[in-house]
Amino acid sequence: MRAVITGGAGFIGSNLILELQKRFPDWELFVVDDFSSGNFKNLRTFNGEVITGSITEEKTIQKIEKLKPDVIFHQGAIVDTTLTDQRRMMEVNCEAFKELLEVARKSRSAVVYASSGAVYGNTEPPMVVGKGELPENVYGYSKLAMDRYARKFMKENPTVPVVGLRYFNVYGPREEHKGKMASMVLQLTVQILKGKRPRLFKWGEQKRDFVYVKDCVEANIKAFESGKSGIVNVGTGNARSFNEVVETIKKALRTDVEVEYFDNPYKFYQNFTQADLTHTKELLNWTPQTQIEEGIPEYVNWIKENVDWEELPY
Ligand SMILES: NC(=O)c1ccc[n+]([C@@H]2O[C@H](COP(=O)([O-])OP(=O)(O)OC[C@H]3O[C@@H](n4cnc5c(N)ncnc54)[C@H](O)[C@@H]3O)[C@@H](O)[C@H]2O)c1
Repeated sequence: MRAVITGGAGFIGSNLILELQKRFPDWELFVVDDFSSGNFKNLRTFNGEVITGSITEEKTIQKIEKLKPDVIFHQGAIVDTTLTDQRRMMEVNCEAFKELLEVARKSRSAVVYASSGAVYGNTEPPMVVGKGELPENVYGYSKLAMDRYARKFMKENPTVPVVGLRYFNVYGPREEHKGKMASMVLQLTVQILKGKRPRLFKWGEQKRDFVYVKDCVEANIKAFESGKSGIVNVGTGNARSFNEVVETIKKALRTDVEVEYFDNPYKFYQNFTQADLTHTKELLNWTPQTQIEEGIPEYVNWIKENVDWEELPY
């Protein structure tokens, strides 16, 4: 089996390649990344080939096409939800995706790609695929545009399996390069480790569906193994508040530090996200295994042992 993983130097992509390498030692793995956000450190134990280039460039797309992959796991994207350059966001996230689907059509490759819970904006939760898809920022819109194009592609190419995974708020190892886009679990943990008070937007009661990266990796593998096509949510199905996240981190670090609340400067902000997982369970035969009570302590230990947290800007 030959697999191409775009964005393999990034957070979710690197967790995916390391699991594929472990579970399927016979597979040939190819990471495609332009290192605009991802970090070589995430690839240090990866034995496959790394193709350095942007998926917006024709020569990179041609290299992928030449490989005739059996599957493309497409994680590469601009992930900055605060970026307002609409053209750039659409070119990297949506136009490059169309080119990858064209490669898949020619090579009959399966495609599993990263969409996002951001497509729902401030829709009434739980978020259901096909309902209330009104993104609040251009990042969310670029993912919705990908999903719409993918749906058309699925209809026109029923023999090419394509699965879109709408990840909600992913947290876990290997996201330190993401700066302000890293999960709040990392940012709050580092603030506490540095002896600071954890900082939350007033009053910490906004809720998100926090999903552990191991569950996302499993969803990618199950999506490929399903051989089916569709677009599904990837979350836990449980919304948890930022206050609950802080409490869980404090317990893991055995500290009683108090939260510092401050005004939210963002006009476009999702106040409450929760994934409906009905379609996901049907299509992928996947259910999330990790709630924050298990995921956060495991991750906090990983941070303490593996991250140069004093150098992080939180
Ligand atoms: N982390 C989350 O909570 C979350 C939530 C919803 C969706 N997603 C999606 O999951 C995917 C992975 O996100 P992540 O959190 O791992 O972010 P990340 O920034 O760690 O990973 C993205 C990777 O894509 C690479 N990349 C960016 N532009 C590229 C280009 N033009 N050509 C080649 N490579 C390029 C980056 O260098 C990076 O390695 C993205 O598509 C993102 O939109 C993530």
